[in-house]
Amino acid sequence: MRTVALGIVAMACLVAVARGGNFFQDSEMTWGDGRGKVVDGGRGLDLTLDKTSGSGFQSKTEYLFGKIDMQIKLVPGNSAGTVTTFYLSSQGAAHDEIDFEFLGNVTGEPYTLHTNVFAKGQGQREQQFRLWFDPTKAFHTYSIIWNPQHVIFAVDGTAIRDFKNHEARGVSFPKSQPMRLYASWWNQELSGMGYRRMRWVQRKFMIYNYCTDPKRVAQGLPAECKLR
Ligand SMILES: *[C@@H]1O[C@H](CO)[C@@H](O)[C@H](O)[C@H]1NC(C)=O
Repeated sequence: MRTVALGIVAMACLVAVARGGNFFQDSEMTWGDGRGKVVDGGRGLDLTLDKTSGSGFQSKTEYLFGKIDMQIKLVPGNSAGTVTTFYLSSQGAAHDEIDFEFLGNVTGEPYTLHTNVFAKGQGQREQQFRLWFDPTKAFHTYSIIWNPQHVIFAVDGTAIRDFKNHEARGVSFPKSQPMRLYASWWNQELSGMGYRRMRWVQRKFMIYNYCTDPKRVAQGLPAECKLR
């Protein structure tokens, strides 16, 4: 059995599982030397970064498929050089991984929301976004919905990315290696409305897409880029 991890590396940010999660039962601190703490009767998690290092935790249980909701409020002010991330991952060279990362910036400049999907060790499927709100002002819900047909990234219930299972066309999809997460079973397609909203986000807020990167185009694009 592979071991897997749900990890969060955060800078002075508060994180909580939105529904039904309890950090006392479900997670363990993996590093951070006292900088990470379970708070609010298990409903919240405080992860901080000081001058020396950050902190992290992982879920105790591993799952194949699920939905994870994280409520995150990012640190205001100068966050340049920090990365706040939550991800699902299995282990090993041919690992699967689903990444949500927030790249900090200097005071007054926007964070970048970075997403990536690895299947069987193969990554380089980055898409990056700006947010349509200031993520340091309030908690927002960032979700990964993972089922056999889709990996959907959502922000406050709006899908921003849908990585579909195109295994029939030879594209690897993460679906056989369990990863750790806070989950309830989920098997849902986006509605027509959900797709229209996602297209809107992608038109207005996407700032990087591996499918349109000139360097990647020159190398020959991954198959799923042509299956829109
Ligand atoms: C920081 O802000 C600048 C200016 O808006 C932007 O070009 C850059 O991509 C941002 N950097 C990150 C890591 O988000």
